Amino acid sequence: MILNINAAHGNCPVHIERGALKKAARIVGPERRVFIVTDSGVPTVWTDCLREQWPDADVFVFPQGESSKNLEVYEELISDMIRCGISRNDCVVALGGGVAGDLAGFAAATYMRGIDFVNIPTTALSQVDSCIGGKTALDIGGIKNIVGAFRQPSAVIVDPDVLSTLPERQLNAGLAETVKAGLIRDPELFEIFEGPDFRDRIEEIIYRALKVKKDIVEADEFDAGERKLLNFGHTFGHAYESFFGLERFLHGECVAMGMMKILEDPALKERVRKVLEKLGLPTECEADPERIMELIRSDKKADHGVIDMVLADDPGKAYIRRMSIDELKGKL
Ligand SMILES: NC(=O)c1ccc[n+]([C@@H]2O[C@H](COP(=O)([O-])OP(=O)(O)OC[C@H]3O[C@@H](n4cnc5c(N)ncnc54)[C@H](O)[C@@H]3O)[C@@H](O)[C@H]2O)c1
Ligand SMILES: [Zn+2]
Repeated sequence: MILNINAAHGNCPVHIERGALKKAARIVGPERRVFIVTDSGVPTVWTDCLREQWPDADVFVFPQGESSKNLEVYEELISDMIRCGISRNDCVVALGGGVAGDLAGFAAATYMRGIDFVNIPTTALSQVDSCIGGKTALDIGGIKNIVGAFRQPSAVIVDPDVLSTLPERQLNAGLAETVKAGLIRDPELFEIFEGPDFRDRIEEIIYRALKVKKDIVEADEFDAGERKLLNFGHTFGHAYESFFGLERFLHGECVAMGMMKILEDPALKERVRKVLEKLGLPTECEADPERIMELIRSDKKADHGVIDMVLADDPGKAYIRRMSIDELKGKL
């Protein structure tokens, strides 16, 4: 399956197919000079698959984890690209989760004022969400994604088979974003999770979730309005992430709890609860309400005591409502 993203600076085909990793060179060009950026936690079987296709490729491996999305690793990466003689006509290929995609994408966006970038996401979160949209970023001074650039990849290669090595908890946390996508814009996607064998339909789930994001991003590439819909469950979700720190819950788990917190319609809330439980995701947590409200107040999206919240009363029909912080407090 190919999903085409129409961006301001060119189109980006997203290849979604079991076994697509083996075709990477055919998609990007076997003769291309590529610079592969990956992390130490990506199983070597996947890196080797790319090395076989591009025997002369340079491979930069950084330590796994969010703490590598910083200026020091960025500088090492750029230095390595210079050392390898990467030119304006060459291509940076990210192989990994959202961290590899954000870091390599930012390097590609800035090296020689921008060179070609191909994203090969290997975690559930990155396959269903972060691989499209064109956002790249670094964390600086403890602030997530504070520096970054919009850079559309020239191609994205999504191979659901690479998820076979991912821990189940990571897989399920990534799928929380697909439940979100269903609730925002695609009722049939949401209903897949209510059916018996959703795990056999992973390709379709990825395709549909990316399609929801594509439609929203195409309408609002540079994040001026409608893109806010993608934040469904994320206002409380981000506050939970900050409250609990990175150890206790994964991002998708916080989003799951955040969606439950914001849903108002009792019938839909019950349906969502059942789906999240099926995925082994948490639906509530004990967090100090005062602290959560403080975190939401300091969220960069909060503006003088009001915040645009994304709500949904029926699957597929999310909408934005401006709420005061006091109104939100009532939800805790
Ligand atoms: N650019 C965007 O639009 C966007 C959107 C959402 C999130 N993000 C960013 O994404 C990042 C989180 O991404 P993530 O959840 O993918 O985390 P991650 O990139 O840190 O990957 C999680 C872990 O999985 C390992 N891994 C990767 N592929 C694997 C595989 N196939 N098998 C086994 N292990 C594997 C990695 O080594 C890592 O340790 C955050 O930095 C977040 O800010 C970006
Ligand atoms: Zn998210």
